[in-house]
Amino acid sequence: MTVQTKASHLIERAAKHLRGLEELAQSAPLPSAPLPSAPSQAFPEQTPPLATPAPGVAVSDVAAPPTVEFQVLEQAGMIPWGRKRERVSEEFRLVQSQVLRQIDGAAKLATSATGLANLVMVTSARPNEGKSFISLNLAASIAHFGTRPVLLVDADAKHTSLTYHLNLMERPGLLEFGGGLAARLEDLIVPTRVEALSVLPIGGFGQGRGELTAKVSVANAVERLTRRLGKMVVVLDAPPCLSTSDPSALAPVVGQVVFVVEAEQTRRGEVEAALDLIAPCPSIMLLLNKTQLTTNSTFGAYYY
Ligand SMILES: Nc1ncnc2c1ncn2[C@@H]1O[C@H](COP(=O)(O)OP(=O)(O)OP(=O)(O)O)[C@@H](O)[C@H]1O
Ligand SMILES: [Mg+2]
Repeated sequence: MTVQTKASHLIERAAKHLRGLEELAQSAPLPSAPLPSAPSQAFPEQTPPLATPAPGVAVSDVAAPPTVEFQVLEQAGMIPWGRKRERVSEEFRLVQSQVLRQIDGAAKLATSATGLANLVMVTSARPNEGKSFISLNLAASIAHFGTRPVLLVDADAKHTSLTYHLNLMERPGLLEFGGGLAARLEDLIVPTRVEALSVLPIGGFGQGRGELTAKVSVANAVERLTRRLGKMVVVLDAPPCLSTSDPSALAPVVGQVVFVVEAEQTRRGEVEAALDLIAPCPSIMLLLNKTQLTTNSTFGAYYY
């Protein structure tokens, strides 16, 4: 492959780096960290209503959220890392530790130009590259092995696949929060059986969905949400960069991007165009998914 720009080096460098990750996964000791408890300052305020509330159904009397069971999480693609120590789970463990290291580093240097350190966006150039699979496993892995509670947010109003696979299609979520339709954030956040992991579905499934999605700025809602959550890590399952404007609107707000590339499927030009759109984010981790470089490998990661 001809290499012309810095961005066009990335896939080759990620593929090379994958081998390094594999060696590390096989040799490195992987100490487990104590599980966190939820920060006492989470959700300190009521959701501020918009000056003109967006259309949709107000959720003042919403039923208490159910708990997402292990079985549902696994059916949605969560690797059963608690039961098996397969290489893919070791790789997620390595990626989550890189993401947490980046969060800690970014928090120390935090300025208004560097985005919210604890907000991590998972995106890709095109649909179906593995964003929801990576988001779910990254969030679960940070919750289990890391040191902080995690909120996994479905920010893909078009595909809603994470919400669908977690059986949360009836629940209000990010769109209601963004539209000022939910009295309390606690009513929207759904706990899971993975300690320290909770989920915010996309929501907006009542009447007026079209108008609500058109009116609510996902980037604005996510920024307000993250500021409310204190030090909680927020992992966004975002739409693909070349399909909607949300990833580029979110790029200056997030502390880092995990950019998923489906190995041998995504075209170089698409990756370059997508990376240009999210260039305002100071830290982008390229994650090569579904690789066939070795029999069991599934992805590799590389920061630039
Ligand atoms: N590393 C992997 N190993 C095995 N299966 C995978 C892997 N990554 C993704 N998949 C599978 O590929 C399919 C697409 O993945 P996923 O739904 O995560 O993509 P997506 O980028 O979120 O798609 P969309 O853009 O439609 O939201 C799913 O069936 C998922 O389980
Ligand atoms: Mg998805």
